[in-house]
Amino acid sequence: MPQTYHQLRLDLATALTQLVDPREANAEAIRWFEEGLDKSRAWIAAHGEEAVPAEARRQVSEWLRRRKKGEPWAYLVGWTEWRGRRFEVNPDTLIPRPETELVLEAALELGHRLKVQRAVDVGTGSGILGISLALETPWDICVSDISEGALVVARRNATSLGAKLTFHCGHLLDPIQGPLGLVVSNPPYVDPADQSTLQPELAWEPASALFAQEHGLALNLELLREAKRRGAPGCVLEIGAGQGETLKNKGLALGWKRIQIHRDLAGHDRVLMAV
Ligand SMILES: C[S@@+](CC[C@H](N)C(=O)[O-])C[C@H]1O[C@@H](n2cnc3c(N)ncnc32)[C@H](O)[C@@H]1O
Repeated sequence: MPQTYHQLRLDLATALTQLVDPREANAEAIRWFEEGLDKSRAWIAAHGEEAVPAEARRQVSEWLRRRKKGEPWAYLVGWTEWRGRRFEVNPDTLIPRPETELVLEAALELGHRLKVQRAVDVGTGSGILGISLALETPWDICVSDISEGALVVARRNATSLGAKLTFHCGHLLDPIQGPLGLVVSNPPYVDPADQSTLQPELAWEPASALFAQEHGLALNLELLREAKRRGAPGCVLEIGAGQGETLKNKGLALGWKRIQIHRDLAGHDRVLMAV
């Protein structure tokens, strides 16, 4: 008997329980159908007893083979949704995280409050922050990244989403000429000493997108220093759990007048806003 969509979904969820928490396995199986095979839950409910074409079955087996080695789903399918938009990702880019939306929200709030006309997204990766700012504000947006490979993806995402911004390859703010405007960044901030305790899936993402020296603080500290030195009116940075107090004290010592730390839904330090 040919395998039906309903049966394939059940088999897939069972196979995925070997890789992820059983509560997440069913949700991930549904995600594969929706994002990988373009079959919505409603479609499956209506057509669950139809036979799955051989090509779709072959594709699911291939994804499962790679997934069993730990490769994240977003790399298998080649994109992920963030803030309601589809962003291409590949192993040159970090997979955007939901909590980075807190950085975007803070940047929108601070940028409007300071009436900025420009903003720079440092370490843009797939481009989520810079592209969202370009689409949601009238500001001039430029982005930088040290990785040429990430910038290739960010450019493609900007084109497919219809965002206008400029791209620069180099270290932090170095390639940006002239006034900076609001400095926004989700730079690498994981302490290399924590590497062995991290989820295995992180090993698939570029190490250059994750780790920073000085217990993970080096790049955020350099951004605070350089943004202040170059007269940026404000800074919005994603930070790691437990990094808020040190960064706040060092930022105030660098001359920032006011620094706020916001926590994420899990209660961890996540966003630093400096003016
Ligand atoms: C944590 S990822 C964030 C990517 C994206 N902004 C996001 O939120 O999904 C950090 C990014 O910073 C880039 N990066 C690392 N070191 C850098 C440096 N010294 N200068 C500029 N970009 C850097 C990495 O290539 C990576 O794309």
